[in-house]
Amino acid sequence: MRRLAFVPIALVGLAAAAWLTATACGGPDAAAPTGAGDANEVSDASAESMPVPALDAATDATDATDATLVDASTDAIDAFATPRLAIVTVRGTPLEGAPGEGVGLAVVYLFADGTTAPVAADQVVWTLPSTIVATDPSDAGASVIPATGPRPTAFYVQNPYRDDRAGVLYILDPGDLGTPDAPGAPSIAVRATVADAGDVTATVAILPARVGDPSVGQNLFQHVLMCAACHGATGGGSPPATSPDGGPQLYDGGTGYLISGKLYPFPAPGLNAAPDSGNVASDPAWSAAMFSIASQADVDNRGVALRKPMPYWLGGTSADGGTLGPQDFADLFAWLTTQPQ
Ligand code: HEC
Repeated sequence: MRRLAFVPIALVGLAAAAWLTATACGGPDAAAPTGAGDANEVSDASAESMPVPALDAATDATDATDATLVDASTDAIDAFATPRLAIVTVRGTPLEGAPGEGVGLAVVYLFADGTTAPVAADQVVWTLPSTIVATDPSDAGASVIPATGPRPTAFYVQNPYRDDRAGVLYILDPGDLGTPDAPGAPSIAVRATVADAGDVTATVAILPARVGDPSVGQNLFQHVLMCAACHGATGGGSPPATSPDGGPQLYDGGTGYLISGKLYPFPAPGLNAAPDSGNVASDPAWSAAMFSIASQADVDNRGVALRKPMPYWLGGTSADGGTLGPQDFADLFAWLTTQPQ
């Protein structure tokens, strides 16, 4: 009985040690203290850190350390017979991400013995921060991308025109540190509501923006990911198509564009920094982070859904077998900013 009464403390210890990186872990040694001295040591450690995913557990742990520890053990067992909810990353990495990153989040049940079990994604609604709904490419209204400000900006994307994945947190902007509005290290509060089980919250730390390497970006663009096949060798965009007699090749009476050998009524837009072109890397309405988000969530910088054949790069695999991530898109953008035509 007494052994079980210490389980809450063990949970806090686990959380403090960034246990979220593991999908399942056995109980730590602290779950079986041999005497009161050990118990105090453990509880002191737990009081120092009150991690977000285990807030409730932390409260119970504090209660369990008082003089009525043994008598209270029955309550503690009851309290932990039911699993608690916690937010983790899909990849088992810490809850953090850099601007431009899509951080895949999931909710798990956390059991008293430290093990976890997934909560079915269709039982989870992500309620903080907000979800933008991608707008119709043929009839887009005002921008649905939140304006950046002193506080960090992040959002989920629901894209009815494309495949999408719920629970991917896109980090757009870290905000301005050191202002009265945003003291401390930048982070974003996230919350999910689970059917019949209530809310769970966590904090996602925002890492410094990735610094892109243009030469790596060029190789990705022209060879590894073949963005160049549609967007042009230097990211200038696909030109209007011409017919064999040299005249314009029309699509439904309007300008046609040859993209990867097929005719479309819209171009693969310019992505480079050609002056006065409105291309992505020359346009102050874009940013490295927005470029990365656009490429993965298939929305432009106003939240308009990107049409096929623009591929779906979220969690895509690069030719070397790695998963595409924020560093790849930072490298791509860094190279595009060096291309003037
Ligand atoms: C098979 C062709 C194809 C490939 C390959 C491709 N794209 Fe695209 N991309 C498009 C098309 C077409 C659009 C325009 C979609 C629309 O207007 O709805 C687009 C749009 C975009 C946009 C939005 C630009 C804007 O101004 O709105 C970005 C950013 C982008 N692509 C990045 C990339 C990156 C980065 C790669 C390589 C990792 C890539 N694309 C590879 C066809 C492609």
